[in-house]
Amino acid sequence: MTDLLTHLRTRRSVPAANLGAPGPDSETLTDMLTIAARVPDHGKLAPWRFILFEGDARLAFGAALADLVKRRDREASEEFLQRERDRFASAPLVVGVVSCAGPHPKIPEWEQILSAGAVCLNLVHAAYGHGFAAQWLTEWYAYDPEVLAMLGLEPHEQMAGFVQIGTADSVPTDRARPTLAGLITNWDPAARAGE
Ligand SMILES: Cc1cc2nc3c(=O)[nH]c(=O)nc-3n(C[C@H](O)[C@H](O)[C@H](O)COP(=O)(O)O)c2cc1C
Repeated sequence: MTDLLTHLRTRRSVPAANLGAPGPDSETLTDMLTIAARVPDHGKLAPWRFILFEGDARLAFGAALADLVKRRDREASEEFLQRERDRFASAPLVVGVVSCAGPHPKIPEWEQILSAGAVCLNLVHAAYGHGFAAQWLTEWYAYDPEVLAMLGLEPHEQMAGFVQIGTADSVPTDRARPTLAGLITNWDPAARAGE
């Protein structure tokens, strides 16, 4: 494992199609989820949970997506349907991170949702820490009410992401990164509106 700063400076997502076996064993998976759950969480609400897709369940999920697409569009090509079937076919593990954020007397819902995002990124880091690669995806099925019902989400819950985890068959070159200059301002108290 590279040191933490080197990892943070160089980590790159690997497309799910380039992730294959092996995936983590159950002890490693438990450690990865433990790390993922170790995030800032205002109010200690733990407003997130995990859905694991392993083994045949990954293929069953893809088959269910293809069935759904076919039911909605009888003209959908076999190639298109196969793409749906293959959604979770490559990476040996997919972790669905569910945001359970809801109204709370003290903690704004927005902060609960941000915490779920932190869980996703921590999970990605944990995967790399254990020598795997990962990609955080949502795609259409993260927003489809029928899919969400099939996954057992409550009406107030949302998918923060499907984190695909496995061994990279190739490492992509880096993508363009934002230049900091355009992202930073110094707050100037003398420039307050109306003064
Ligand atoms: C919430 C969220 C959802 C994402 N959903 C998708 C997606 O559906 N499809 C996709 O190609 N990339 C998606 N991405 C981007 C991937 O994670 C992508 O691999 C990443 O931006 C590459 O950046 P990196 O190299 O810094 O990891 C999503 C990212 C986030 C934060």
